[in-house]
Amino acid sequence: MKVAKDWKDYRVIATGDGEKLEKWGKYLLLRPDPQVIWHSKFELSKYNGLDGHYLRSNSGGGNWRFFTNVPQEWTIGWNNLKFSIKPMGFKHTGLFPEQAVNWNDMITAIKNAKRPIKVLNLFAYTGGASIACASAGASVTHVDASKGMVERAKENARLNGITTIRYIVDDCQKFIEREIRRGNFYDAIIMDPPSYGRGTNGEMWKLENNLYDFVQLSKKVLSDNPLFVLISSYTTGLQPSVLSNILTLVFGEGKIDADEIGLPTDEGIVLPCGARGIKFWN
Ligand SMILES: C[S@@+](CC[C@H](N)C(=O)[O-])C[C@H]1O[C@@H](n2cnc3c(N)ncnc32)[C@H](O)[C@@H]1O
Repeated sequence: MKVAKDWKDYRVIATGDGEKLEKWGKYLLLRPDPQVIWHSKFELSKYNGLDGHYLRSNSGGGNWRFFTNVPQEWTIGWNNLKFSIKPMGFKHTGLFPEQAVNWNDMITAIKNAKRPIKVLNLFAYTGGASIACASAGASVTHVDASKGMVERAKENARLNGITTIRYIVDDCQKFIEREIRRGNFYDAIIMDPPSYGRGTNGEMWKLENNLYDFVQLSKKVLSDNPLFVLISSYTTGLQPSVLSNILTLVFGEGKIDADEIGLPTDEGIVLPCGARGIKFWN
């Protein structure tokens, strides 16, 4: 498993009974995690200094409850980068810290390439991967159907003084089809598709039904000197070897690294956070 070990401003303190207790900079938040099917060693909601708790409602949604003066948003650091943290709906905080394992590998690949690299970041959310790649010198096109998430990505870029990202609010499939017609190509493609989702015009996305065709379509915008293609998935039950198979079948054999990704916890275990598959060309 690839474990995101290099955080100083973030840690998982404890897990249990469907929840995880995390420290984001100065603030302690407790929120649901469906992977946590074991019992906690103590009552997490009674943890001394807890600042916020995301409580599920019976209707399927939920909301944050705050016990202290938690700001609307605040900043945490990872290596030389900064990210804005903002408790939002659907238990989100605006950052997936386990993605740091991918950021490290992409930064290394871009720096080692020693040539201009064009990156296409699809389902790009608040821009963690966009910022990482841009910080390594790549020119990044960031695509997400949510205007609100693109605004948060711009805020993250501003925090890091990054001005080289092109932002697109669009359905990823529609955008790729347009790029094919325009003859635009990219040296690296990143995709972190949701299990379910909707595009800007309500286009339905279901990972198991759409991923393979989508990866095949994305091949049409890959340059003839590619650097990497990364597929990341949080969908429960999607094995790393599924991602490895898709990458091999679509792009051919070669160097592929497919693995679970996870976060270390203070309890000495690793919290699983989905899988990633990355194909490198050199
Ligand atoms: C799982 S998140 C990606 C996490 C992100 N890569 C990261 O590491 O921070 C999925 C994102 O896909 C977007 N999305 C869902 N369906 C979409 C579609 N059809 N086209 C474009 N974006 C979509 C959502 O708005 C959301 O921001």
